[in-house]
Amino acid sequence: MSMTAAQLAAAIPKTELHIHIEGSLEPELIFALAQRNGLSLPYDSVDALRAAYAFTDLQSFLDIYYAGASVLLREADFHDMAWAYFLRARADNVVHCEIFFDPQTHTARGVPMATVINGLSSACDRAQAELGISTALILCFLRHLSEEDAFATLEAAMPYRARFIGVGLDSSEVGHPPSKFSRVFARCRELDLRIVAHAGEEGPPAYIWEALNDLKTERIDHGVRSLEDPALVAELAKRRTPLTVCPLSNLKLCVVDDLKHHPMKRLLDAGLCATVNSDDPAYFGGYMNANFVQTVEALGLSREDVVTLARNSIEASFVNEARRGELMALLDSAID
Ligand code: HPA
Ligand code: ZN
Repeated sequence: MSMTAAQLAAAIPKTELHIHIEGSLEPELIFALAQRNGLSLPYDSVDALRAAYAFTDLQSFLDIYYAGASVLLREADFHDMAWAYFLRARADNVVHCEIFFDPQTHTARGVPMATVINGLSSACDRAQAELGISTALILCFLRHLSEEDAFATLEAAMPYRARFIGVGLDSSEVGHPPSKFSRVFARCRELDLRIVAHAGEEGPPAYIWEALNDLKTERIDHGVRSLEDPALVAELAKRRTPLTVCPLSNLKLCVVDDLKHHPMKRLLDAGLCATVNSDDPAYFGGYMNANFVQTVEALGLSREDVVTLARNSIEASFVNEARRGELMALLDSAID
C-alpha cells in the first residue's frame, strides 16, 4: 500500500490539544446566532465578514475574534458552536480534543459563567456519546486583563471545577508576560488544575522560560520562537515539554511568511515534542487535517514525521493512562 505522507496524516486517528472553541465559530454560524439572538452585526453578509479575515498580526485577529464571539449569549449558543466543531473534528479523524475557552470574553458581556460552561460541557458529553470523541475543557485567562480579573474568574468557575481539567493563558502576548499571572497559576496548581500557557508565539523566548519556571506549565502553546534560544531548546528537550504548534495560525498571523519556512521540521529535528493543532480554525483557513496536510506538503515531511507528530500529541495529552493506551493502539492499528 503506498499512501503518501499527506494521505497518512489525513487518515490516522489524531488528538487536538490547541483549539480555542470561540475560534471555531464559522461566519455562517456567527450570522445565524446573531439572528437567533436579535443582534445586528457590523457586516452586511457572511462574505463581507469573511473578507475582513486578513490579519497582519495577533492583535488584528483578536479584535475580530472577540467581535465574533459577542453573538454567544445562551447555553444553546455555546453548545451549538462546540457541536459544530466536534463534527469537523470527527470528519478529520480527531478522536480526542482538549478545548480552550475564554470565559472573560463572555462574563464581561454579562453572560453567566454557568451558561458558558454548561453549554460547552453538554456538547462535550454529546461528542463522547454520539461520536466517541473524548474531550476535556481548559479555561484560559485573558492576559491583557489584570491579575485581579483572572482571580475573580477562577473564583467564579469554582462551582464548575469538575467540568474543566486545567487552565491556560491566551490573548495579546507582547507586553503581558507569563509572570504577570504567577500568583494566579500558583493557586491553580493548589487546585490540582493542569497548567498550560501560550508563549513564544509573538513573544520572546524569555516568555517561554517564564511559563516554564514561574507558571510551571506542563505544555507550551505555540512556542515556535523557542528556536531562537539554544539553551531553551535543550531545556524543552530535556523536560520533554510538549509544544502545541499551529501552522496555519502562524501563517495567517504572519509569524511565518510562507509555510515552506515553518519551523515544524526544525522543532522535530531538535528532538522536541511538537504537535499539530488548528488554534482558531474558522479564522485561519482550516481544521486539523488542513493543518497537517499543508504542513506535510510544504515541508516535505516523511511518513515517519507524521507518525511522530501523532504520537507526540497522544503523549502530550492529559488523558488517563488507560485512554492513552487506547489512543496509541488506535494509531498503531491505523498505521499497519
Ligand atoms: N494566541 C493568543 N490568543 C489567542 C489565540 C492565539 O493564537 N487564539 C485565540 N486567542
Ligand atoms: Zn492559541
